[in-house]
Amino acid sequence: MPDNKVYIFDTTLRDGEQVPGCKLNTKEKIEIALALEELGVDIIEAGFPISSPGDFQSVDEIAKVIKNAVVCGLSRAVQKDIEVAAEALRNAKRSRIHTGIGTSDFHIKGKFNSNREEILQRAIQCVKWARNLTADVEFYAEDAGRTDNEYLARVIEAVIAAGATTVNIPDTTGYCLPYQYGEKIAYLMNKVPNIDKAVISCHCHNDLGLATANSIAGVMNGARQVECTINGLGERAGNTSLEEVVMIIKQHHALGYYTNIKAQQLNPLSRLVSDTMRMPVQPNKAIVGSNAFSHSSGIHQDGFLKDALTYEIINPDEVGADGSKIILTARSGRSALAHRFHKLGFQYNRNDIDVLYEQFLKVADRKKEVADEDLKALAGEYQVTAIVA
Ligand code: KIV
Ligand code: ZN
Repeated sequence: MPDNKVYIFDTTLRDGEQVPGCKLNTKEKIEIALALEELGVDIIEAGFPISSPGDFQSVDEIAKVIKNAVVCGLSRAVQKDIEVAAEALRNAKRSRIHTGIGTSDFHIKGKFNSNREEILQRAIQCVKWARNLTADVEFYAEDAGRTDNEYLARVIEAVIAAGATTVNIPDTTGYCLPYQYGEKIAYLMNKVPNIDKAVISCHCHNDLGLATANSIAGVMNGARQVECTINGLGERAGNTSLEEVVMIIKQHHALGYYTNIKAQQLNPLSRLVSDTMRMPVQPNKAIVGSNAFSHSSGIHQDGFLKDALTYEIINPDEVGADGSKIILTARSGRSALAHRFHKLGFQYNRNDIDVLYEQFLKVADRKKEVADEDLKALAGEYQVTAIVA
């Protein structure tokens, strides 16, 4: 079994930036790359240099400013792509070329109109081209999730022999179930004789909402690199979300894995990416959604106010979130109401709260959320009634 460090390969600036509307200019990409380095990611996939002059420039500029992380550029299994990626990365302190080809029969026949033998040779060739230009080469077997395991093992053995130092097993279409993806990684661990010469990487898409679960299944079966994005951005339904993987590994420390990520920066970086890419984060998104630490039902609020651990498995400070919130709605109970009144400076006994709660429910049924201003108004009316009585 390899060491228990899980390398975090961030592809927000490549797979994430492919999302319609999320295109970034070079300045914005540099800002995010620097923040990713500060967060502690091990590898930053900065772009796909041959895809456009703008992307070449971004990779080139990022390569110049990043000090510790490996800067990676994507290419197809095409010599020109690989040369252009190497050119864009020439000023990096540590660089990686990420090259590869589709290995499923869907890709071999449908995309390349080719056969398994020819694709195997192209895979070997692209790794050799890249190895002539840099020592750090990652090979991706696109659509590995739907690739026959026996053939995949042959390809992986051959590309490692050709010099690949990381082998990426993408579930490109997000098709696998966690046990299937885990078994695929276990199969490669057991059947590829030279697998100890390379790191296995998971690159999972979220078409069935399983990207994070699949990546964790991959790690539990021997993968030691996870490719992910901030806020889970990426093609179609997105990629594995960086913040989810990091916090699963942290919360389940009994599993023995660790990453170098400084979790307190997760929420600030999520906001930076969301603002820069003009892509809002869904409120119920794990770790970084605005509701991730909000409690709104009476049962939950009562438990949370007695002991936060009853309904929170993560302390919001640990991930740089604004803090836990008690949202007052028509589903809230008396303890949450009393708590909020107390915070606003109103001390009420149980009888007061019983009366105020009836008034509160009338407001709550009219509004989605009861604001502090509404409570102050209720308190004012209650005082007047008390004086008159
Ligand atoms: O999803 C995928 O297979 C990819 C590869 C290019 C790594 O993004
Ligand atoms: Zn992808």
